[in-house]
Amino acid sequence: MIGLGHYVPENVVTNDDLSKLIDTSDSWIQERTGIKERRWIDPKSDDTTSTMAVKASKIAIKKSGLNKNDIDFIIFATLSPDMYFPGGGVRVQDMLDLPTIGALDVRNQCSGFVYAMSVADQFIKTGMYKNILVIGSENHSGGLDKSTKGRGVTVIFGDGAGAAIVSRCEQKEKGILSSHLHSEGKHARELMLDGPSTGRWVPEIIANNDPNDQSYYPYMNGQFVFKNAVKRFIEVINEGLEANNLQISDIDLLIPHQANMRISQFVQRKFKLSDDKVYNNIMSYGNTTAASIIIALSEAWEQGKVKEDDLIILASFGAGFTWGSVMIRW
Ligand code: ACO
Repeated sequence: MIGLGHYVPENVVTNDDLSKLIDTSDSWIQERTGIKERRWIDPKSDDTTSTMAVKASKIAIKKSGLNKNDIDFIIFATLSPDMYFPGGGVRVQDMLDLPTIGALDVRNQCSGFVYAMSVADQFIKTGMYKNILVIGSENHSGGLDKSTKGRGVTVIFGDGAGAAIVSRCEQKEKGILSSHLHSEGKHARELMLDGPSTGRWVPEIIANNDPNDQSYYPYMNGQFVFKNAVKRFIEVINEGLEANNLQISDIDLLIPHQANMRISQFVQRKFKLSDDKVYNNIMSYGNTTAASIIIALSEAWEQGKVKEDDLIILASFGAGFTWGSVMIRW
């Protein structure tokens, strides 16, 4: 990875701000999730999933030292594209005024960035592409239930975007060492947004005219998600270590998907990692799904917490369920 960038909307929404809309409190949210505030797009701004992606990408391209025309391919992970179709990749290609390179959309929710990195790595290792723009971006605030009915989900999620330029690395022992991807679709309905979809289309929702219909807002079985997340995070980090014949003590920095501070702390305790070896920023941004890992990695890189030769692990878990890890020697 030769350049990273991130962008979050200016509009800060604190827990106290939320408690004016919803029956909740700063202490409930902080105690359960570690979140103090998040960024939500100001509807009057030009921020969308794609425009935030473009802002983050411009920073990543600049920091990489490449010319934008050196980019061979775009991979865009999001669960909240601007449009039902086409996906965000082509919007970025257009807005960055790139030549007619390929643009792939990844639909793996909180694991989206990890899946996207793995795809980029395979294209690079086969020699097909040299420089790939990998993006995670989300506009959650546009689709959350901002009434008390939605409080179990709404307080957790924030908006933002991150981007990385993944490039071919001539030194074999550097770059992405391995990636490990998993899914378990039998739990798809434990964390989902049901409609509108082809299984539950707009006319059906309108015809039902049910004021209690919550199907077009995200649903999450929080405790079930929590239990599965901690188990799978630990498994997939161990899988990455074993595949590379490494020990937990070899890790310089773990960047877990910022799902919930309690999940990150559980994983940290399990592996007996010191605070400086786990990067968290959920306090400031909430859970930004496919954007969370790349925003965190970009911030850590900016702060000098990612150094040459460091062993970095990215790990994710989310809707699907899907989970994964990426092992990187920087
Ligand atoms: N404010 C105040 N009260 C609330 C709120 C809120 N925002 N949300 C729920 N409550 C209430 C509930 O209504 C319930 O009230 P009741 O006892 O009167 O029925 C009570 O708090 C307890 O609700 P639970 O859902 O049991 O609360 P829990 O302790 O499980 O915490 C939470 C909920 C924070 C969502 C927790 O389950 C969790 O962290 N789960 C993991 C979810 C997660 O991290 N998801 C993201 C990962 S996946 C991804 O990134 C897509």
